[in-house]
This record gives sequence, structure tokens and C-alpha cells, in this order.
Amino acid sequence: MKSRSDIIQHSLFEAEPVPGQHRLFSGRAPENTVPRVEDRPAGLAAIDDLDLLRQTVLKCRQCCLREGARGVVFGEGNPKADIMFVGEGPGKTEDEMGRPFVGRAGQLLDLMLKSHGFSREEIFIANIVKCRPPGNRLPTPQEVEACLPNLMAQIRVIRPKIIVTLGALASQTLINPGLRVTRDRGKWFEKDGISYIVTFHPAAVLRDERNKKRLIWEDFGSLKRKYAELCG
Ligand code: URA
Repeated sequence: MKSRSDIIQHSLFEAEPVPGQHRLFSGRAPENTVPRVEDRPAGLAAIDDLDLLRQTVLKCRQCCLREGARGVVFGEGNPKADIMFVGEGPGKTEDEMGRPFVGRAGQLLDLMLKSHGFSREEIFIANIVKCRPPGNRLPTPQEVEACLPNLMAQIRVIRPKIIVTLGALASQTLINPGLRVTRDRGKWFEKDGISYIVTFHPAAVLRDERNKKRLIWEDFGSLKRKYAELCG
């Protein structure tokens, strides 16, 4: 018979990810950075309602990021979205507002969405980590691993047909750790019945508009065509 901890471990790390999803980080987390698996909310894998999932994720304390953040930025949009955008993690403005992509990078994302006929109401926007890393640093592999069950649960509940990975962290975490955004942007990948497209993070575009703006624009054109093909 399975012990309680067996069941929790199974439900959080094996039943949770999208089928076929590889585990990316196998190294052990340093003591005190990531709480034990046994501490995780046991019900995540069983949740099939986005509001219930939100309530559960808002209570998440699986890594230290929550201590330095105002709150958990769950993500927002259509609970039945065909397209999901995944960024890196909340920045200062997102942490203050409790909403994803509402700072400068979010304004650029909004512009690109609108210019290609999409609205925030019809898509879903989430991040790899749900709490702001201090000083906007890159989340550590341990923080990503701790938070990934939350995103996997979102993907499982929303069941998007298309996922747009914004930047290296989202692309490498969700598609393939060997991806390079400069080389692989604009490419489509099929995994577990979902079509993924890699593109730049909007913040990277803001830092280098001359070289990246036209390219991200092309990627959104490709997204629009794929959406028409799959969902039109
Ligand atoms: N950058 C991200 O990756 N996510 C946000 O929500 C905002 C900025």
C-alpha cells in the first residue's frame, strides 16, 4: 500500500506535469531553500477548476521568493484560452499590482496583441515563477523547480492549443533546455498536443528594439496564422 508521502510525491511530480514533460533540474536544492516535497499542497494534481487552483497557488510557500514579494502573481485571462503566454516572473509593477505583464514589457505585449487582433480577455498570461525575484534577478533552478507544478497545473486546467514562450527561461523550461532564443525564435515545436512558439521576451525587445522588434513582430504574425489554422 502507498504511504501518504508516496501519494503526495506522485501527485505533485508525476501526475502534475503535462504528459511527457521532462524534469529539468535534478540537482538537490540547498537546505532551507525549497521546502520538503511532503510540505506541498497535496491537492494540486486533483484540481480542475482555475479559481480553485488560484486559491491554492496564492497560498504557495514552496520557495523563498514569496518572503520577499508582496504576493503571488497567479496569472490572468480566459480560463479556456486557446493561447497561453508564459514569461519569466513578475517584476516590480506586477508584484505591486498582482497582475502579470503590466509594466513596460506588458505595455509592449499589449500593443503586439492588439496589433494582431488578440485581446487579453481571450488569452491567458502566466509566468514560470509566480513571485517576484528580488531585484528582478533570474529565478534560480531550484525556484523554477519549486514553482513549476503551479504552471503545469495551469496548463492542464486551461488546456491551451498554443503556448508562446517569452524569452529563454520559459522556452528552455517548457520546451527544451538546449533552446537558444536568438537561434530558435519563430520556430514551432509540438509537445503533448500543444504547439509552442519561441519568441523574445518583450523586455529584451525594449532593450534592443533595433534588432528585435521586427523579429518579434514576425513571430506574432506566425502566431496569428497558426491560431487561424488551429482555432479559426
Ligand atoms: N516580465 C515577466 O517575465 N513577467 C511579467 O509578468 C512581467 C515582466
